[in-house]
Amino acid sequence: MEHLINSNVREIEISGIRKFFNLVSQYDDVISLTIGQPDFHTPSHVKEAAHNAIDNNKTNYTPNAGLPELRRAAAHFVQHKYGLSYEADSEVIVSIGASQGIDIAFRTILEPGVEVILPGPIYPGYEPLIKLCGATPVYIDTRDTYFKITAKQIEQHLTDKTRCIILPYPSNPTGVAIQEEELIKIATLLKDKDIFILSDEIYSELVFTGKHHSIANYPGMKEKTIVINGVSKSHSMTGWRIGLVFGPEYVMKQMLKVHQYNVSCASSISQYAALEALTEGINDAEVMSIQYKERMEYVHNRLVKMGLDVVKPDGAFYLFPSIQKYGISSFDFAQQLVENAGIAVVPGSAFSPLGEGFVRVSYAYNMETLVEAMDRFENYLTTIS
Ligand SMILES: Cc1ncc(COP(=O)(O)O)c(C=O)c1O
Repeated sequence: MEHLINSNVREIEISGIRKFFNLVSQYDDVISLTIGQPDFHTPSHVKEAAHNAIDNNKTNYTPNAGLPELRRAAAHFVQHKYGLSYEADSEVIVSIGASQGIDIAFRTILEPGVEVILPGPIYPGYEPLIKLCGATPVYIDTRDTYFKITAKQIEQHLTDKTRCIILPYPSNPTGVAIQEEELIKIATLLKDKDIFILSDEIYSELVFTGKHHSIANYPGMKEKTIVINGVSKSHSMTGWRIGLVFGPEYVMKQMLKVHQYNVSCASSISQYAALEALTEGINDAEVMSIQYKERMEYVHNRLVKMGLDVVKPDGAFYLFPSIQKYGISSFDFAQQLVENAGIAVVPGSAFSPLGEGFVRVSYAYNMETLVEAMDRFENYLTTIS
C-alpha cells in the first residue's frame, strides 16, 4: 500500500543534518560543533513563570492565536526592538516554534503551480514544506554575493508564478545578514508586486554588527510580509516550542484557520514562560549575544589562520567556511574530520545543493570546547595539505 502514501510526502528526504548525526553517533571522543541551538540554559525567571503557570492550574487551552497578553507582549517586543507595528488582536499568532509558524504561513499562501524563491545555501526546513504544498522551490545562488540575496538576483528570477520570496536573515548556516541599503532596494523592487515575503527573523536578537532590520518596516512591505520570530534562539528556549508569526490582518485571519485545525493552540505553560521572556526578559539575549560574538571572533580568526575562506558573520551562531580547495565532497570532508580529527561539523550539502563545498561550524559551545576543537581542526588540516 506504500504507493498510496501522498507522493509529495514520499518524495521528501530526511534532513542531511540528521543523516550526519546518525553517522557521528557511532564514534567516541568526538567534539561536536553541529548543534543548532543555544548552549545557555533558559533564564531562571522564565522557568519560574512556567512553574507558576502549572501551580496555578493555567493548564487549559488558550485562545487559538495565543494568550492575549502574550500577543500584546510579542507586538510590543517587535515594536520596541525593530520598529514593527502589529495589532496584537488581529496580526499576531503564537505558533509551536518558528517551524510550525513557517508551515502554517506556507499552507496559507502556497498552492500547486506557484514558485517560491529561496537564497541558497539555506536552512533545510523550508523546501520540504514548500513541496508539501505542491509549490516549486527556486534557488538563487548567493555564493558569490557573500551569501546575501540581492535585489538584482531576485529580479532575474521573478516569473509570473512567483508567489513568495524567503528572506532568512540572519542566516543559518552562514550567519550573514542583509545590510539596510540592500533591503531598501529589495523593498523598492517588490513593493508594487503581488508577491509575499516570508521573513524568518528567528536570529534577530543575535546580531553583532549594528541593529537588526526587518523588511516589513519599509514602505508598502507590511501588507505583503509574514514575519517569523520566536523565543527559541533569543531566550534559549528551543524545547519550549514557542514561535511568533506577524502579518497583515487579511493574511492572519486565513492563517488562523490553518493553525486552529492544525494544533488548536501552543502549550499554555510554554506561553506563560514566553510571556515572562518577552516582558521581564525583554533584553535577556544581550548577554548571550556578547558571548556569541566573542566566540565568533575567536573561531573566525582560527579558521582564517588555517587558510580557510570564510565569510565573517553578522549574527546567529554559525560559520560556513569553504572546503572546496580540498577537492572532496562536504560529506566526505566532514566524515574524515570525525574519523581522523575527532570533530563533527555539518556538511554544507545539508543546506541545499548550493551548500556543497562548505561545512557549518556551530559556536554554540563554551570557549574551552571551541579551543580544543580548533586545535584538532588545525592539526588535521596540516596533515592533509
Ligand atoms: C532559520 C531557522 N528558522 C527556523 C528554525 C526553527 O526554529 P524553532 O525551533 O523555533 O521551530 C530554525 C532552527 O534551527 C532556524 O535555524
